[in-house]
Amino acid sequence: MSVAEELHPASNARVRFPTRRLGHANIFVADADKTADFYINVAGIEECAREPHIPAIFITNGNTHHDYGLVQCGGGKELRGRDGHLQRAAGRGREPGLNHLGWEMENERLLVAAHDRAVAMGLPLHRRTDHTISHSIYVFDPDGHLHEMYADVLENWRTVLNGALPSITGEWKVDAKTASSTPLWGAEPYVRQVPKAPFHPIRIARAVFVSNRLDQMRQYYTNVLGLEDGYDASDGSFFTLRGHASAYDVAFFKAAPGQKPRMVHTSLLMPSERSIDEGKRALKSMGKGDRIVFEVDNAAKKSVFLRDPDGLGVEFFVERAGGFAGIGDHDLATRPYYA
Ligand SMILES: [Fe+2]
Repeated sequence: MSVAEELHPASNARVRFPTRRLGHANIFVADADKTADFYINVAGIEECAREPHIPAIFITNGNTHHDYGLVQCGGGKELRGRDGHLQRAAGRGREPGLNHLGWEMENERLLVAAHDRAVAMGLPLHRRTDHTISHSIYVFDPDGHLHEMYADVLENWRTVLNGALPSITGEWKVDAKTASSTPLWGAEPYVRQVPKAPFHPIRIARAVFVSNRLDQMRQYYTNVLGLEDGYDASDGSFFTLRGHASAYDVAFFKAAPGQKPRMVHTSLLMPSERSIDEGKRALKSMGKGDRIVFEVDNAAKKSVFLRDPDGLGVEFFVERAGGFAGIGDHDLATRPYYA
């Protein structure tokens, strides 16, 4: 039995969470203040709240309650939230990297229905969590990445995610009778900016991974996480997937020899191609032009990549209509930049 089958006996079944789009990336960071300074004052995303007891910092431009959660590494120590709820399992958060991706659901009632299908099929669930602003189910994918499938349960999350917070995270008693069918994901968000930052993105839009088991990942992300097929490279070396409110949320590339499976970058949607050039110019005038590690100008997109203080890639992009043909010509190590 493969590792994936062991972890997910129901991976062939169709749990299909009602996934709209990527909502946030929660990342473990070596130094929360230092990383927040990068994401706020360079990447241009506003701080909205902190959980000092972790410590964790939440940043958003308003599209949803957070684009990133920046959680300081805790040396692998277990963390308990409200009522003793297991907020971070022992062994997690030893070093910087992805903690989890947050996937926005259509509404709570559909989330509960998917939860009940998952339970009926025997899918292992890591946590059922009440975050006060949202209700969440956490699951691990075949490569061991954690995913939060969440439905917003508050109309105005800014009333809670504001300044220094007490522990707002506890156990969620999943209940179909009380679950709301009202979509609360915010149809017309007011997008803010950090004026002094060089870049002014709209929101996090994509996450890109390298993996050695593309077929199993695709099966899991479609059958369990509820994503739809996007683009498929003819040589089988990469594919994209999307939520039902989106065109492209996540991509998987075949890992280069010796490369471990991991998330290599997240991508921030920019308002225009001109705004990317303006961001580059402003960054250079701040004396930080050396933070640019890669640039793409192809049929699929225009973009620029920086690295955050822990080395995780951050892309600022605008999509173009030309598609992904020809990307397979690039070597495996750089291919994930191009799509
Ligand atoms: Fe989250």
